Amino acid sequence: MPESIVEMRHITKRFPGIVANDDINLSIHKGEIFALLGENGAGKSTLMSMLFGMYEPDEGELIVRGKKVNITSPAEAVALEIGMVHQHFKLVSNYTVTENIIMGREPLRRLLGILPYIDRKGAELKVQALCDRYGFDLNPRAVIEDLGVSQQQRVEILKMLYREAEILIFDEPTAMLTPQETARLLDIIRKLRDDGKTVILITHKLEEIKQVADRCAVLNRGRLIDVFDVASTSTRLMAAKMVGREIDFEVDKTAPVFGEVILDVSQLTVLDAQKVAMVKDVSFTVHAGEVFAVAGVAGNGQVELADTLAGLLAAKEGSISFKGENITRASVRKRTVEGLAYIPEDRHGVGLILDFPVSDNLASKAYFRPPFAKGPFLQQFAFRQYADTLIERYDIRCSKGALTPVRSMSGGNQQKLIVAREIDADGDLVIFVQPTRGLDIGATMGIRQRIIAERDKGKAVLLISLELDEVLSCADTIGVLYDGRMTKIAPANELSRNEVGEYMMGVQR
Ligand SMILES: Nc1ncnc2c1ncn2[C@@H]1O[C@H](COP(=O)(O)OP(=O)(O)O)[C@@H](O)[C@H]1O
Ligand SMILES: [Mg+2]
Repeated sequence: MPESIVEMRHITKRFPGIVANDDINLSIHKGEIFALLGENGAGKSTLMSMLFGMYEPDEGELIVRGKKVNITSPAEAVALEIGMVHQHFKLVSNYTVTENIIMGREPLRRLLGILPYIDRKGAELKVQALCDRYGFDLNPRAVIEDLGVSQQQRVEILKMLYREAEILIFDEPTAMLTPQETARLLDIIRKLRDDGKTVILITHKLEEIKQVADRCAVLNRGRLIDVFDVASTSTRLMAAKMVGREIDFEVDKTAPVFGEVILDVSQLTVLDAQKVAMVKDVSFTVHAGEVFAVAGVAGNGQVELADTLAGLLAAKEGSISFKGENITRASVRKRTVEGLAYIPEDRHGVGLILDFPVSDNLASKAYFRPPFAKGPFLQQFAFRQYADTLIERYDIRCSKGALTPVRSMSGGNQQKLIVAREIDADGDLVIFVQPTRGLDIGATMGIRQRIIAERDKGKAVLLISLELDEVLSCADTIGVLYDGRMTKIAPANELSRNEVGEYMMGVQR
């Protein structure tokens, strides 16, 4: 029997209105890479946050190295040699690497045996030694705000190692990384295991689990579904366990047939609220019948580009032409009426009114046109009828039909609702921004297939996604945004996955 280092017995954690973890029993072996798989909201972060002392379980027991423990704060977790790298880093941006690492455990020395001072030099040497050991190219004196995402993540890892953690929890560590950075992180994780550490890897990415994990537990809606050996389980079966049914991974797609140019963006420059250029001199065209997919790491101008095309943000320079007409300064409504559909990333901010029913949300783009804009009575009737049709056509699951408040629906069904509303309008261009973020694989594949279906109907599609898989599976043409510039545009079948990754990191330009 392998030695278990962490055991969870009947762990239950409730939040108002939801059971985030429901009677979980788990045993994690010393020296293994243990993956925790599940869709967004399955309860992964909550479960491991309890091991790190951020929440306390409502019921159940935690056992670490054979002893029952109550971990009521991260400090107590650290004392038990447990460390955690959170989804959102917790670094002080104007401090150096070393200052962040030693924070809260500053090594003190005494000058002349009396005056206490922080032994910065000694700390830097220790940090440097850890960097050397794990092959991190990181200057202990660099200031955090000058570092990229993957380097900041390494600082978080060093912080755990400096505190001599033996149980290392990584919460969705590759969400913000490029494929190359991801590969390097997975190497580091293997190395940590080789050093005898126990690694808990929270993720919803099956590929990563397949590559590094020894065993995997699956959570679904707060419940533990299964624990299995990774080597003997297919990716397809893992996916089925995660979402509770079999799924088809392939997007069915035939060769595109390009029509006329629908969207023509020329030398577009956009500033943010601080007057910093976020989109720089970007030019590209999208044809009818084409999926033009924009690849890039988060924060390289994607959101600003999309918002400008939708009319939510003003262009500083350059022009946007839609079906031959200059719409650079046109209102949002004019763009909508002309046939430009926009499915934003922030579904709650601009996408949906959560307290309104499905019917009102479905009609919110069309309320000013007939049949909705006639008499008040006819209007209500038309809203309902329209909603019923879309619910059926797009398979939107809502308990009370058209009258269901949107707030009570799952994320996947909220997203289907927005997609239905936007693409049913029969426009000429659909802009999708991160359309499958946070959705399970079943809903994700449904939306990707829908993107291709719109293309096949002859619409122009602009897809902006941080998921390289999504770009590669849907695109006819790929454009890469790096630092606000479109550094590469090429037909999708002329670019390898690695090449796209290199453009995303700014290695090739
Ligand atoms: N602090 C909190 N307060 C209320 N609800 C929460 C809190 N943290 C998480 N939840 C809810 O608990 C469920 C599980 O969340 P989480 O553990 O973050 O899932 P995962 O990490 O698998 O995406 C979700 O429904 C989430 O909305
Ligand atoms: Mg989480």
